[in-house]
Amino acid sequence: MTTGLFITFEGIDGAGKSSHIETLARALRAAGRSVTLTREPGGTPLAEKLRALLLNDAMDALTETLLAFAARRDHLCRVIGPALARGEAVLCDRFTDATFAYQGAGRGFDLRVLSYMERLAQTGIGLGPDSMLEPDLTLWFDVPPEVAAERLAAARAPDRFEAQPVEFFARVARGYADRAAGAPRRFARIDGAQPREQVAAQMLAAVAARGWLPGAAP
Ligand code: TMP
Repeated sequence: MTTGLFITFEGIDGAGKSSHIETLARALRAAGRSVTLTREPGGTPLAEKLRALLLNDAMDALTETLLAFAARRDHLCRVIGPALARGEAVLCDRFTDATFAYQGAGRGFDLRVLSYMERLAQTGIGLGPDSMLEPDLTLWFDVPPEVAAERLAAARAPDRFEAQPVEFFARVARGYADRAAGAPRRFARIDGAQPREQVAAQMLAAVAARGWLPGAAP
């Protein structure tokens, strides 16, 4: 068994999750944890190359899915697995729930095939030959797609996903809601439409409630 802590950050583009990862990292470090900050797709030299392809080159849903899982496998083998084995907290900006939400719900890719690929990619990473590594906690930043679209319109030039219409993000948001309903203990829903400080406070409370930060009973 690993002794580390694996926490993932999820939400549609424009949900605001990325700006809160550093806040949680600071809080965990203050509580005495070593922290690895990383992201998907990406987190290794190979996976960052795959990220650039995924975000910029036109391709079909199967190719997208294969690239996302190839990047994930490399990331798990080289960064996430070793960091968890050292007892660190790994904070990862997106993980497999994003594949279910974007390629599954967004693009319409077969969810049963995704489940098979999830098992394939996440097995044999420090937990024994048959156990699938999953996040200990997934912080799901939930915002209405219309709010996220307004935020994106005010931000940098969009990538291939950010350029999608609001209907695509409505499907992705439903994909996240379905994943959360299927794993209610793993997911904590954070209301991403609140003012920034309240979003951060709700996130920290969700982690503290699990006994991983001082300030709330486990
Ligand atoms: P980011 O902008 O949050 O870094 O995420 C990069 C984009 O990649 C985002 O639009 C979601 C998308 N993505 C997928 O489509 N499938 C995946 O498995 C992952 C991890 C991300």
